Amino acid sequence: MLAFKLAPMALLAAFTAAHFTVPNDDQNMSGLVVNGIPYSTRVKYMRLANEALFSQSGPCPFAAYGTIIVNHTSDEIVCRGANFRTGDPTIHGEISAINACTAHFVSLNMTASEIFQAWGQLSIYTNAESCPMCASAIRWAGFKEYIYGTTIQHNYNVGWGVITMASYDVFQQSRQLPGFQTSMLGQILTNETDPLFSWQYNESYPCPNNCVRQYSETRGYTTCVDPNAK
Ligand SMILES: *[C@@H]1O[C@H](CO)[C@@H](O)[C@H](O)[C@H]1NC(C)=O
Ligand SMILES: *[C@@H]1O[C@H](CO)[C@@H](O)[C@H](O)[C@H]1NC(C)=O
Ligand SMILES: *[C@@H]1O[C@H](CO)[C@@H](O)[C@H](O)[C@H]1NC(C)=O
Ligand SMILES: *[C@@H]1O[C@H](CO)[C@@H](O)[C@H](O)[C@H]1NC(C)=O
Ligand SMILES: *[C@@H]1O[C@H](CO)[C@@H](O)[C@H](O)[C@H]1NC(C)=O
Ligand SMILES: [Zn+2]
Repeated sequence: MLAFKLAPMALLAAFTAAHFTVPNDDQNMSGLVVNGIPYSTRVKYMRLANEALFSQSGPCPFAAYGTIIVNHTSDEIVCRGANFRTGDPTIHGEISAINACTAHFVSLNMTASEIFQAWGQLSIYTNAESCPMCASAIRWAGFKEYIYGTTIQHNYNVGWGVITMASYDVFQQSRQLPGFQTSMLGQILTNETDPLFSWQYNESYPCPNNCVRQYSETRGYTTCVDPNAK
């Protein structure tokens, strides 16, 4: 019945998630100040989340998910992560960044209870909205803030296989967790994060960062590759 060509993953998602709708909005958020932090600082760190992805995984990794954990009191990145596709299905960017911070705090001889306390001072920036697994980890940690770029809805629309539950819904169901609450800010700098996720299932979409289209034997269509990688 479908007259157009869709990636198999997109097709599956289309049939299983017909009721999932969170509109993308284009509000002007430049005046937004949350926890005393101006919007320009949000933009700066969201760009650094993208940069962390590029420095760890190259200019156009298929799994374009990058995360940094930021201490806004000292105005610095504490640790970073990406989806390294290690084969361990839990190693999304957020989990790898949380693991990196935990290892860092252990190396500072912090006790477990000191580490549990530390999350409440930190902000996690991730260039795409967290899946329910990672959103749950963010709430279990009790981060001070959670800031994301591209929405799950966007990635669903462009063909990704996703779990169609917004972080908003996970957070709504997490209010009784003990410890810290978490401020959530979504759709930050999507004009720069969306393009990183839009080429994987759409051969017409331009590659980011001067990558080039190349036929992928494993996928059976063209994907973006770093022309300088070899
Ligand atoms: C966005 O809002 C800011 C003030 O918060 C204003 O200075 C700016 O002109 C607005 N930009 C657009 C494109 O409307
Ligand atoms: C952590 O503890 C070990 C063993 O007591 C000690 O050698 C090391 O210097 C400590 N590291 C820091 C960063 O305090
Ligand atoms: C964040 O930075 C402040 C100021 O430097 C410092 O006192 C605090 O220990 C840091 N928190 C964490 C969890 O690193
Ligand atoms: C994306 O939008 C921000 C404003 O939120 C702007 O400063 C930036 O230049 C835009 N990026 C691109 C690549 O157009
Ligand atoms: C694929 O990308 C092209 C170029 O940006 C765009 O015009 C088209 O709408 C996209 N197709 C889908 C299914 O998103
Ligand atoms: Zn995840």
